[in-house]
Amino acid sequence: METPSKPIKSLAVLCSGGDSSGMNPAIRSVVRTAIGLGIDIYGIYRGYTGLLEGNIQKLSLSSVSNIIQRGGTILDTSRCEEFHTAEVRQEAAHLLARKHIDGLIVIGGNGSFTGAMNLHQEHDLPIIGIPATIDNDISGTEYTIGFNTAVQTAIEAVDKIRDTASAHARTFLVEVMGRTASSIALQVGLCTGAEQVILSNQAIDYQAIVDNIHKGKARGKTSSIIIVAEGEKAGLSYQIKEILMNQYDVGVHVCILGHIQRGGSPTAIDRTIASKMGYAAVHALCEGKYAHVTAFNKGEIEIVPLTQCLGKKTEVTDSQLELIRALAI
Ligand code: F6P
Repeated sequence: METPSKPIKSLAVLCSGGDSSGMNPAIRSVVRTAIGLGIDIYGIYRGYTGLLEGNIQKLSLSSVSNIIQRGGTILDTSRCEEFHTAEVRQEAAHLLARKHIDGLIVIGGNGSFTGAMNLHQEHDLPIIGIPATIDNDISGTEYTIGFNTAVQTAIEAVDKIRDTASAHARTFLVEVMGRTASSIALQVGLCTGAEQVILSNQAIDYQAIVDNIHKGKARGKTSSIIIVAEGEKAGLSYQIKEILMNQYDVGVHVCILGHIQRGGSPTAIDRTIASKMGYAAVHALCEGKYAHVTAFNKGEIEIVPLTQCLGKKTEVTDSQLELIRALAI
């Protein structure tokens, strides 16, 4: 255990980047744990943007009442481009110092953690990251808050699409979020019995897609669901549809699930992990673990160095794809 340079008397918490369901239980846990330890806790509204604007308020036990079941984030969030510059981060550090805030808890994804790391390195600010993004793409942690809820929402949507696809004997491309990560696509593909999954990091084999659709029809399948990982930019499915139609004479329908995947009441898994991570984050700061992250690995919360969590996770996709293919025969 590292020795804190000075005891933590007051902390601030913010959410940054795309929201994910489970951020609220994490905030609740941070606030209640801090107050339980006699630490003043401040909420920074709208992420790093709010920090620069001084949009900061002291939180009480009742500030976080009745939020464990709510999606979104009561602190709001933002994607703050300005935070990439050192001068802007200096302003942020000065503002925190003026408010006598001893440490910061950042709930967010890769970009948010990079901002946190810079702030720590340049201004020696005690910081802990809580990984939260539906994409589940942060290195150093097997899980990020919000993934399970997003997957559950997408599964429910695909199940409904399957009903109409079967009724009309149609093929659907269902595009899920995840940016360049394919975690959501793979999990949703497996759990909905999808016929195919198109990953974001692989060249698209159109002939294989078409052959698979024809094979399914020949053996009496009444519908085909192809899950598409969105990749860099949402809307890839429309390009795939055009190529299938123009070059292979195969008609498909497209459904882009979009931001529906980011909202909704957090599942039990997200509430549990968020509650554990919030608690662990406050304790880690009190123990002098500055520039660390509350990771979830092998079923346990671990405090790992922030440097391990700045990159994108290496995805293991082959075995998952093989299972989906084996079961969609
Ligand atoms: O990173 C989370 C995420 O939901 C991605 O899956 C998606 O590509 C992106 O954010 C969408 O961002 P925005 O809401 O800013 O359009």
